[in-house]
Amino acid sequence: MKNIASVLEYHDRTKHRPSKYAASLGYMDWATQPDPFRRYKGATLIPLTHSEVTPPYHLLFQQDPLPSAPLCYESLSQLLRYSLGLAAIKSHGGSSWALRCNASSGNLHPTECYIIAPSMEGISDHATLSHYAPREHALELLHTYDSSLEEGTFLIALSSVVWREAWKYGERSWRYCQLDAGHAYQAINIAASMLGWKCELLSVDSAEIASLFGLDQSERFDPNEKESPDLLIRIGVGTSLTLPHTPKIPYDANLLSSSHHLWPILKLIGDATEGIYPQIPPLKRGDYLPAPSKSAGEIILKRRSAQMMDGSGITKEQFRSLLSASLFCENTSDVHFVLFVHRVEGLEKGLYIYVRDKKDLISLQQSLDETFKWQECGEELYLLREGDFRGVAQMISCNQEIAKEGAFSFGMLCKFSSTLETHGGIGYKSLYHQCGMIGQMLYLEATSLHLSATGIGCFLDDEFHALLGISDQRYQSLYHFTIGRAIVDTRITTLPPY
Ligand SMILES: Cc1cc2nc3c(=O)[nH]c(=O)nc-3n(C[C@H](O)[C@H](O)[C@H](O)COP(=O)(O)O)c2cc1C
Repeated sequence: MKNIASVLEYHDRTKHRPSKYAASLGYMDWATQPDPFRRYKGATLIPLTHSEVTPPYHLLFQQDPLPSAPLCYESLSQLLRYSLGLAAIKSHGGSSWALRCNASSGNLHPTECYIIAPSMEGISDHATLSHYAPREHALELLHTYDSSLEEGTFLIALSSVVWREAWKYGERSWRYCQLDAGHAYQAINIAASMLGWKCELLSVDSAEIASLFGLDQSERFDPNEKESPDLLIRIGVGTSLTLPHTPKIPYDANLLSSSHHLWPILKLIGDATEGIYPQIPPLKRGDYLPAPSKSAGEIILKRRSAQMMDGSGITKEQFRSLLSASLFCENTSDVHFVLFVHRVEGLEKGLYIYVRDKKDLISLQQSLDETFKWQECGEELYLLREGDFRGVAQMISCNQEIAKEGAFSFGMLCKFSSTLETHGGIGYKSLYHQCGMIGQMLYLEATSLHLSATGIGCFLDDEFHALLGISDQRYQSLYHFTIGRAIVDTRITTLPPY
């Protein structure tokens, strides 16, 4: 299949190697730094509300969902506030920057969010298409439909402005956009569960998402700042899926940068990963219930990436909680964890594997180094090799100390060639989404345990694979992560975002 060849070419070419990182400018061209906030000039801006009351975080893990909130202006406001809204304004040395509820590689935030919702008091007495503007915590009204939509259910599309990441990360940026889209999806999924709502990832063609949300109206976007349609989510209790027709939207997207550096491979991978979004079989969640903790809203707003870790350890219980919480990302059964355990009380230092979906156990055993021990540690955790892997973890994470000074760090090892064979190029995209979803979930779980986490997009792909004895494409690591205790930089001031 042609698109698989393109995916494999992109994947190999954008691997970081010790002697050669994936191509990028290699410096920050501040003059062309993209605006992190998309706006549509002339579109009516509808401010959203701010609700402070959210349920306790641990209740989101109950078997039974929380009572379902009615779909209205206030509940939609809450969903967006605690998923893609701003969480804090940071300032230091005369400059300030916004941080959001969803983590993003380099804080560049390529993910945009569009909503098609039925008529709602406070928004419109017609069904609407709008764009979420996080800086203002407001909806930009792009279109009102003549026909009505099914009540109690609505659609969210997530898209990526790949240029925002390409500006800094060059050819590897497409990977980061997809990881970020996964983070954004999980942020929405969690905020929805706070309202007793269920998110469903729809298996539709990316061209259909583009047409539905007007993203294919190329004349409305700068040619270098187009948005690629990534995910379509249905929230609510809808039974049928009736997609409205969206005509030409009269509002143009703002220009994000004055000029652009082009990376032709990004168009190649964008095209190769279009198609019908795969349905990923759900994972078995287990019956994990965290200890009672703060409100979900507080945890979401408090979540931050650690920039330095203090080198202290965590308990085995905390470690187990983190692994169990990852299973609450329903559609992530293609991802396993290979862990560098540095300091977890009651666990020997070493290299471990957490087999998140049991049915892959044999294929993993056949794919990894045959000298690994596979010593059972319970609940699908296996010790592969004892030892101090702190230096290796740092080296593999582009020499970032957080991977060594966290209590543990790990790579998300994904079922690679079989996913591409089954789903074609778009399967590649969905693997990054799965990794991003897990990342966002683990950030929150770490925060609830008074720990900190950091996503690690910068890692030496094949150095990691070589360590595991991987020499083919059956499994590939697509995202790395570290969890421990952060050293907070007290020189940076934090202000409320709104
Ligand atoms: C996909 C992804 C990759 C990331 N890679 C790195 C990394 O390699 N090193 C690092 O220090 N932080 C990394 N981060 C953390 C981001 O820099 C951080 O999310 C961003 O600055 C926003 O800060 P916040 O998470 O506190 O909101 C990554 C985050 C994501 C989502």
